[in-house]
Amino acid sequence: MKNFEVKTKIYFGQNALDRLKDLKYKKVTIITDPFVVTGGLISQITSRLDEVGTHYEIYDDVIPDPPVEKVIAGVTAVLKNEPECIVAVGGGSAMDLSKSIRKFANHIDPTFNPPLVAIPTTSGTGSEVTPFSVITDPQAGTKYPLASDDMVPDEAILDEELVKSVPPSITADTGMDVLTHAIEAYVSTNNNEFSAALAEKAVEICGQFLIRSYNDHNDTHARRKMHIASCLAGLAFSSASLGLNHGMAHQLGAQFHIPHGRANAILLPHIIEYNSHITINSRSRKEYAPCVHKYCNMARILGVNNLNEITTIHALISFIRFMCTEMNIPLSISEIGGISENEYKSRISAMADAALRDGTTATNPRTPTKEEIMRIYHNLW
Ligand SMILES: NC(=O)c1ccc[n+]([C@@H]2O[C@H](COP(=O)([O-])OP(=O)(O)OC[C@H]3O[C@@H](n4cnc5c(N)ncnc54)[C@H](O)[C@@H]3O)[C@@H](O)[C@H]2O)c1
Ligand SMILES: [Zn+2]
Repeated sequence: MKNFEVKTKIYFGQNALDRLKDLKYKKVTIITDPFVVTGGLISQITSRLDEVGTHYEIYDDVIPDPPVEKVIAGVTAVLKNEPECIVAVGGGSAMDLSKSIRKFANHIDPTFNPPLVAIPTTSGTGSEVTPFSVITDPQAGTKYPLASDDMVPDEAILDEELVKSVPPSITADTGMDVLTHAIEAYVSTNNNEFSAALAEKAVEICGQFLIRSYNDHNDTHARRKMHIASCLAGLAFSSASLGLNHGMAHQLGAQFHIPHGRANAILLPHIIEYNSHITINSRSRKEYAPCVHKYCNMARILGVNNLNEITTIHALISFIRFMCTEMNIPLSISEIGGISENEYKSRISAMADAALRDGTTATNPRTPTKEEIMRIYHNLW
């Protein structure tokens, strides 16, 4: 038996942030990325809370790829402040940290269980609707995608005004994260008709609007669409989970601090080749793995359908590489710069072990061996 549930109430469209004026809490804690405070975005939140006389504290001890120690510090802070509601404002890092802080604070004090309102400022992770919180363990050199239904935010507010300040490189990285979420959810062994519908729409929007929002950050229409696509893809993988692409990307993030979406983008063509058993030298055959038909559907939605399965998979991979090139995303680890080849190669074995253990790898359409994962890491260089 399967089930499909959207626990999060989603507010979106023009002035969606006005929802904050309807919150009936006396005291909230805003957990946010420091950029949101220094860059002034926070006033779009606080001005609305001020208007209705809601008291708030701002907690901005958030860093990208949040580590375990920041969860501990945050738990201490919220248990001291005792807010009636937590408002998470930022990218995946701020939202994931808020989700873990609320959960672990509740473990310590079971009476503490405030609602969580998630307000994304990047169009990427979909964390505002997912049960995942990705926490880094710097000592072990890995990221843990914690998953629990009680981490799903109660409300999400999607207001494109908050993403206008996102610079092109982060628009590119986070946008490719959206595309990867949708494609991985679509071919996941846990996929279903509900997740598929959400993933298809997310991919359609990425094809039409990602490069547009990269090229013009004032293109409000494109920004709004990508903000919604990010949430749709988040709903898709909340239901279907992800795959090897994320299992491997988490290790690149933990070991080399490659931005999450960028790591996914570099991996995506390699993972499609691997999952579909189709390389540049493949010849047509009578039968293909089931994921090949799904990848071909994705190619069709992106407008790059081709002669047959082999050429369509090639076209899909070329289109993904084209998107990366258009948005100045490197196609290999060596192109990123600043990572030594010896250092990278010396960590491949440990990264492969961690990728095999990563919870997202379990739903990949092809079950990988450690040697296969190591080969893909080598090919990424
Ligand atoms: N919970 C999930 O379901 C899920 C899914 C995918 C990824 N993740 C995790 O989320 C994290 C990545 O999140 P992300 O890609 O949103 O990046 P992020 O939250 O780490 O932010 C990236 C950078 O963008 C900046 N930024 C954020 N909003 C901005 C804005 N409006 N204008 C200008 N700059 C802005 C931040 O200051 C930061 O420097 C990773 O840890 C990843 O593993 C979680
Ligand atoms: Zn992701």
